Amino acid sequence: MSTQGKPRVLLMHPILDPGPAILAEAAEVVPYPPDRPLDEASIRSHAEGCTGIVSQVMDPIRETVLSTPGLKVVSNVAVGFDNIDVAAATAHKVMVTNTPGVLDDTTADFAFTLLMATARRVVEADYFTRQGQFRGWAIDMMLGTDIYGATLGIIGIGRIGRGVAHRAKGFNMRVLYYDPNPLTREAEQQLGSERVDLARLLVESDFVSVHVPLTEQTHHLLSTQQFGQMKHSAILINTSRGPVIDEAALVEALNARKIAGAGLDVYEREPAVHPGLIPLANVILAPHIASASVRTRSEMSAMAARNMATAVRGGRPPNLLNPEVKR
Ligand code: GLV
Repeated sequence: MSTQGKPRVLLMHPILDPGPAILAEAAEVVPYPPDRPLDEASIRSHAEGCTGIVSQVMDPIRETVLSTPGLKVVSNVAVGFDNIDVAAATAHKVMVTNTPGVLDDTTADFAFTLLMATARRVVEADYFTRQGQFRGWAIDMMLGTDIYGATLGIIGIGRIGRGVAHRAKGFNMRVLYYDPNPLTREAEQQLGSERVDLARLLVESDFVSVHVPLTEQTHHLLSTQQFGQMKHSAILINTSRGPVIDEAALVEALNARKIAGAGLDVYEREPAVHPGLIPLANVILAPHIASASVRTRSEMSAMAARNMATAVRGGRPPNLLNPEVKR
């Protein structure tokens, strides 16, 4: 509790309006100094005396932080929460919340943007034109891959995966999906998608788009063996989490032309990007911006602030990931 009588909340990074006002109504907000490292020891030292932490995907919130006396809630401004050890939070009776739902369409839009831009070499073509290399129409200039009518393999058919399948319908794509949890028959029919095992999805798809959370089961889900199963002409899209893909194996597969290209928004060791990806013209590299529209990032900020405000006032936050803490 602070001198103002409001609980203290550590804000790891600035958030967008209306998040700050929602937070300030409920708490005394303590900004994390931007020059401090994002390691657990430093976060812990700033979390002392705080009831809550508003975190983002780059903040490691694990045992050292979660065992801070008096800490009651961590509100992550993201749908993914692999940066937080939820089991340790539950053990310490710390609530954890995230921001599901509001970013699905924006993220699905961006997965499709990367798919189209990689297939049709948009970034490469832009450089080419800017550098004055366009000297007239040529029959063989910047040839790409057709999207319309192609086969799309979706790994993970949660809200975002379904959003991608929905967009693919407009491009008359054949949609395959792999997910341990099948859709209902009606949902499959509505999305025009067929459930297959991972090997078949990899063998038959022209595009493979990844939409799974990062867990022990999905770590390096795609590695050397899986790239070997893909078509030489296939393009891989990742807007989920970097470590789902073995990045070194991906670099090797791209160099060996085992697959044709990749559109990536996430990396194994963010913000570092595997140096082997940098020189590759058949790869588009984005800086983890799939949910970055003005509206969606504002909604995520508001949602995270509301989760925090509800929790510090003693209520049950709407997007509680470990309900067993709040009986
Ligand atoms: C962003 O990566 C998120 O999980 O919301």
